[in-house]
Amino acid sequence: MTNATSNPDLLPPPLWSLPEPDPQTFRVRPLRIGNVDIGFPAVQAALSGYSDGAMRIVARRLGAPYTLAEVMIDRFVLELKNRRRTQHHLQLTDEEHPVGGQLMGSDPKEFGPAATRLVEAGFDIIDINFGCPVKSAVGGCRGGYHLSQPSVALEIVDRVREAVPPQIPVTLKMRRGIDDSQGSRDRFFQIMDGAFNRGVAAITVHGRTVEQKYVGPSNWEFLRDVKLHAKDRTILGSGDLFTAQSCLDMLRRTGVDGVSVARGAIGNPWIFQQVRDLANGLPAMIPDLAEQRRVQLMQCELSLQFKTDVQTCSTMRAFGLKFARLHPQPDVVRNAFAAAKSLEEWRRVLDTNY
Ligand SMILES: Cc1cc2nc3c(=O)[nH]c(=O)nc-3n(C[C@H](O)[C@H](O)[C@H](O)COP(=O)(O)O)c2cc1C
Repeated sequence: MTNATSNPDLLPPPLWSLPEPDPQTFRVRPLRIGNVDIGFPAVQAALSGYSDGAMRIVARRLGAPYTLAEVMIDRFVLELKNRRRTQHHLQLTDEEHPVGGQLMGSDPKEFGPAATRLVEAGFDIIDINFGCPVKSAVGGCRGGYHLSQPSVALEIVDRVREAVPPQIPVTLKMRRGIDDSQGSRDRFFQIMDGAFNRGVAAITVHGRTVEQKYVGPSNWEFLRDVKLHAKDRTILGSGDLFTAQSCLDMLRRTGVDGVSVARGAIGNPWIFQQVRDLANGLPAMIPDLAEQRRVQLMQCELSLQFKTDVQTCSTMRAFGLKFARLHPQPDVVRNAFAAAKSLEEWRRVLDTNY
């Protein structure tokens, strides 16, 4: 994904022209999505290539009240067989709930049956992806492409809402538009209002355009406008949530009901506890090396319950590169993880550095 995983420290800061609310009156409010009580309003986003069962369980154990699985293409969901390599996509554990499953596709007709399969697998909330900016998705008329065609987007919403039992919330993930044009903005609001009118329980808005991919800041002013427009309907914000403080800032300055932590949670699952700490007026907990080691080993053990050794090695190597950011010698540790070719070598990196 272009620039998606580049060093957040190098990204420009978010737009800060939003007013600081009165600290005396601001309160973090518990989040509810339809009839599902989420609680603390900092959740873990859907992250393709990352938010597998192991990452989601680690996030839940460390304080995330709700997580989303990696996006799945509708046809992929329908064709999934009980094969060791792919079955993990629909495997859920008791401790994960509530957990969201996310669908992406081009043909509205495929969405209903795919959503039904996610419900049968046990997902508590069904999320529709109208945001993915990658070439293969947009070129295949999926993800963010739907922001250009409100009538098709809303037909997808109808199909999913009809297929999913009424007690299971349907939600949307949207970018703020295809590009910066007025037409794109108008279509965003057309889809948003149409979706709420069709029974969508919450919308997560990423403040970047599809064209923007991950270049430049997420527009938090847009998020504030969205929440003002949505009034009491539930909006979660996304974009540039790299620290616990930025999560709290987004809640306070934009008025959104929840924040969806994405890159900031890859290799830093402690961020969920840190936001809670800050919201309680406490200093954010800092994970020492022993804690960083404990959590990486825990994630590896969990991963092996769902995935093969080879898959787990490649996943843990990818996460290791991100966990390394918290190490006092990030470059040394990052290079060591990058060179690990087996789980044994990965464990040796932990033994040597943590
Ligand atoms: C590697 C990667 C994978 C992603 N996968 C998904 C996905 O499966 N579904 C989704 O809705 N968004 C996905 N996103 C978008 C994030 O959920 C989030 O909206 C975006 O990264 C902006 O937040 P951030 O700037 O705080 O990272 C992904 C982002 C990244 C970087």
